[in-house]
Amino acid sequence: MAKKTYSIALIGGDGTGPEVAQEGVKVVNTAAAKFGFKLNFTPYDFGAARYLKTGETLPDSAIAEMKKHHAIFLGAIGHPDVKPGILELGILLKMRFALDQYINFRPVRLYPGVETPLKGKGPEDINFIVIRENTGGIYTGMGGVTRLGTPDEIATQLMVYDRRTVDRCLRYAFELKRRRNAANPKLAEKPITLIHKRNVLTHCGDLWFRAFEEMGSRDFPELKRDYNHVDAANMWFVKNPEWFDVAVTENLFGDIITDLGAMIQGGLGVASGGNINPDGVSMFEPMGGSAPKYTGLNVINPIAAIGAAGMMLDILGEHQAAAAVEQAILATTPKMKSQAAGRMGFSTTAVGDLVASAV
Ligand code: IPM
Ligand code: MN
Repeated sequence: MAKKTYSIALIGGDGTGPEVAQEGVKVVNTAAAKFGFKLNFTPYDFGAARYLKTGETLPDSAIAEMKKHHAIFLGAIGHPDVKPGILELGILLKMRFALDQYINFRPVRLYPGVETPLKGKGPEDINFIVIRENTGGIYTGMGGVTRLGTPDEIATQLMVYDRRTVDRCLRYAFELKRRRNAANPKLAEKPITLIHKRNVLTHCGDLWFRAFEEMGSRDFPELKRDYNHVDAANMWFVKNPEWFDVAVTENLFGDIITDLGAMIQGGLGVASGGNINPDGVSMFEPMGGSAPKYTGLNVINPIAAIGAAGMMLDILGEHQAAAAVEQAILATTPKMKSQAAGRMGFSTTAVGDLVASAV
């Protein structure tokens, strides 16, 4: 029988993006060989270099092209010569919206041997997942400006949510929590936590809260539920990260708290993310940027990219291979001196080799 083959769009992107992406590819190819499937990577050159040359970010034809693949794997996008907003909106957000990747899946996990700035906390305390809604809220770009450039200028940017968008995100989070509890019954003690700001955002916050309570009590009555205001959640991420298992939140709050999450798990070198459409094409990426000053030096940390590539295997349905990648990362981080670029005790490619050989 022919091996199962997955077609993957590979967008290395800018700066150190291609270097870390390459290590992700290396590791998942090793896992594929071991677990009897095949990954077919097709490279695309979207990013700053193409934009600076042609003025093009992500042409509409690219969206149609992306839909032909099983998944997208992205290194990093961003360049100091490109004005902020152009590549973010033109590539990253366009992809999320056009492919309806409505879940942003961000594990906050402290790997063994990795230093956290949180005194007294270890890998058993920092291991949760933030489900960030990824297509709505302030990110929709609704709003506008009048009297531009005058002392009377008015700008608005609206937080937009409809019940369907809220419900589909909550359902994903509840189902994830149910699966995690089933795999590890001790996790049933921990709640699924809704994070918002309903004491001030009384319209959107109320929509999220009611939807959370209704769905939770009706369809997931066995799951403990909790609610945190987002400012308080920031405090608890630092003071009591062990309280969290699955946290679900709207788009902008999710953006902000997951950078904090990345820091408590040891930095952007280890933080992975998935932009997921459960019924469509998802995109996986390290959370870190293109780190221009480290480009081409073979010193950037590829662990986040490798983690994202492993996450991609899981979403493709290759659960055993994904678990093997995760185990290989767990076996590798204790050997590294640091997770910071240039201080790992290994080069980028050597870290990739270490993980690959542990798969
Ligand atoms: C992220 C990034 C993006 C976001 C930017 C680059 C548009 O910060 O993925 O968290 O705000 O979502
Ligand atoms: Mn962000």
